[in-house]
Amino acid sequence: MIAVAIDGPAGAGKSTIARKAAEELGFIYVDTGAIYRAVALACIDHQVAIDDTEAVEALLPQSDIRVIFFNGEQHILLNDKDVSQAIRAENVSMAASRVSAIPAVRTFLLEFQRNFAKNADVIMDGRDIGTVVLPNAQVKIFLTASPEVRARRRVLQLEEKGEQADFDKILYDIVQRDYNDTNRKTAPLRAAENAVTVDTSEMTLEEVVDKIVGIIKEQGL
Ligand code: DC
Repeated sequence: MIAVAIDGPAGAGKSTIARKAAEELGFIYVDTGAIYRAVALACIDHQVAIDDTEAVEALLPQSDIRVIFFNGEQHILLNDKDVSQAIRAENVSMAASRVSAIPAVRTFLLEFQRNFAKNADVIMDGRDIGTVVLPNAQVKIFLTASPEVRARRRVLQLEEKGEQADFDKILYDIVQRDYNDTNRKTAPLRAAENAVTVDTSEMTLEEVVDKIVGIIKEQGL
């Protein structure tokens, strides 16, 4: 089995790029952030404060999170309900970043994530895929871009959907999430030792996809 790990900060374009690269290579694409988002949504739905780590831990066994692939698209089910859209709300983004710092949450999700790579060739994206989830991945990529570029891309994404976007607020949230994800004690966001870092600030989407597919093919995979 072939595993490609793509890690990097929020808004670096990981999911769009990983999805397209997986399509080109015929691999499964697994977005692990969506799984943390489902845990965050469970907390919000049950009005569990994320600071209350014991309450969050108690909620985990009651949260049946499933990932299904439908027409090649990943869907997330939380207690049998498709929450793929609901987990994208801005309040869920910050809650996911905070909930993901709880060691019990990370332990709860570890094997679940590893199982995807057991029977299929995968491109998996997240924050700790190359360092913790799939340390033996044949290819490890650290995808990054400046906070300003990431915020601008997010604004464009929201505007395309006809939604209001406040650049300063989005930039503030991105910097805050970077801080949370990089400074937590368990499995912080960082490039794996043998990862190739790709800064996408000055690159188009197509250039990044070509570069990533090129790196994977270079390995003879
Ligand atoms: O990739 P994303 O923005 O959808 O992820 C949401 C949050 O989940 C992110 O801020 C940190 C956390 N996360 C993580 O800690 N480890 C992962 N492998 C993926 C996401």
